[in-house]
Amino acid sequence: MSTSTQDIDLTKYPHLDKGLEGIVAFSSRKSYIDGTKGELYYAGYDIDSLARNSTFEEVCFLLWHERLPNKAELEDLNEKLRAERDVPQGVIDYIQTTRNDSEPMAVLRTATSMLADEDPESRDTSAEATLRKSIRLTAKMPTIIAAFDRKRNGKKILSPLKKKSIAYDFLYMLNGEEPGENAERTMDVLLITHAEHGMNASTFTCRSICATLSDLHSAVTGAIGSLKGPLHGGANTAVMNMLKELDKDTDIVAFIKGKLERKEKIMGFGHRVYKTYDPRAKFLRTMSEDLAREVNMEYLYEWSEAIVKVMKDEKNIDPNVDFFSATVYYSMGIEPDLYTTIFAMARISGWTAHYLEQLDNNRLIRPRLLYLGETKLDYTPIDQR
Ligand code: CMC
Repeated sequence: MSTSTQDIDLTKYPHLDKGLEGIVAFSSRKSYIDGTKGELYYAGYDIDSLARNSTFEEVCFLLWHERLPNKAELEDLNEKLRAERDVPQGVIDYIQTTRNDSEPMAVLRTATSMLADEDPESRDTSAEATLRKSIRLTAKMPTIIAAFDRKRNGKKILSPLKKKSIAYDFLYMLNGEEPGENAERTMDVLLITHAEHGMNASTFTCRSICATLSDLHSAVTGAIGSLKGPLHGGANTAVMNMLKELDKDTDIVAFIKGKLERKEKIMGFGHRVYKTYDPRAKFLRTMSEDLAREVNMEYLYEWSEAIVKVMKDEKNIDPNVDFFSATVYYSMGIEPDLYTTIFAMARISGWTAHYLEQLDNNRLIRPRLLYLGETKLDYTPIDQR
């Protein structure tokens, strides 16, 4: 017998909300989303102005300290982020033993957890040590991701150059050549637009783990597991897999309508908070168009626009950040199953910022459960069942 939440007397459970949609469980100064107007602010600054003017490193500072840095503070952070990019040999040895068909997010999750082993402050949950660990994790994640991608493609794992931005070094370690200004800036904007986003599922996971007073590496490892799912960060890879099913003869309207009729979700569309266009998608839409043209893949952008139109006409649902970011990554020559790891490489800034905030005003996260089963059953010995 199954009982659904519809059969329950909700007056007895006034806070019951499947998916916690209407529940505010935390307060925060890290970001604000106006889902009706389609606005997103990191610590007060509009995402559009950050994407146009800032750098990922500056956004990290903003999220950790809730203010923009001055020149000396930013240079100090840049220096620390450069100095911490190497990963311990044990992590490289682990990457060398992974299967070539391993999931990049699974490898990132394991390698991130391994970093705790070599971090002298792994057990120290003070704010000061947490900030230092946040810098270390932010610096090391790109090295792990690039190392796995090179290993699985039979290429030599490269050490970071440590002379420029995270975006620059990541592209260098991934491709084996130093990126041009445009590629570096594109990657930087991708990192900025994915850095932080309110009480999303992985940030909730991170804060819940922090709230038990567990350490930062545990919280970030859990958050990576949460981000991996296709309803969250994994959607960007799923978008590209869907686009790769198409060819120039595909009737896109019929293709999408068919999926909707079969009650399939169209990846990269819809959002729990935005009731209008996701402002990050708006920004990435332009980038996707420009970049697709630059690399002669206009068809990708045209298919994307056709899908946006059917979704609007059929369901009145707009794209989210994952829809156009997928084609941006693809146009940059990045393999689809790496997209979610790049999302993690950006969101580490938001996760760690939330961990710091949770520590500062902590209370154990412990919601209640609506029990749907029976009670007071007689225990039957196993040979009588
Ligand atoms: N394709 C088709 N129908 C959809 C979609 C979609 N992508 N998203 C929502 N709907 C429909 C859904 O079928 C339902 O319709 P009805 O009321 O007729 O049954 C209605 O919209 C409400 O959907 P819901 O799933 O109850 O909404 P939710 O708030 O629980 O889900 C979501 C939000 C993001 C999980 C969902 O929109 C979805 O599954 N999207 C596809 C996956 C995706 O792109 N995820 C990335 C989210 S943004 C980046 C991030 O934060 O990670």
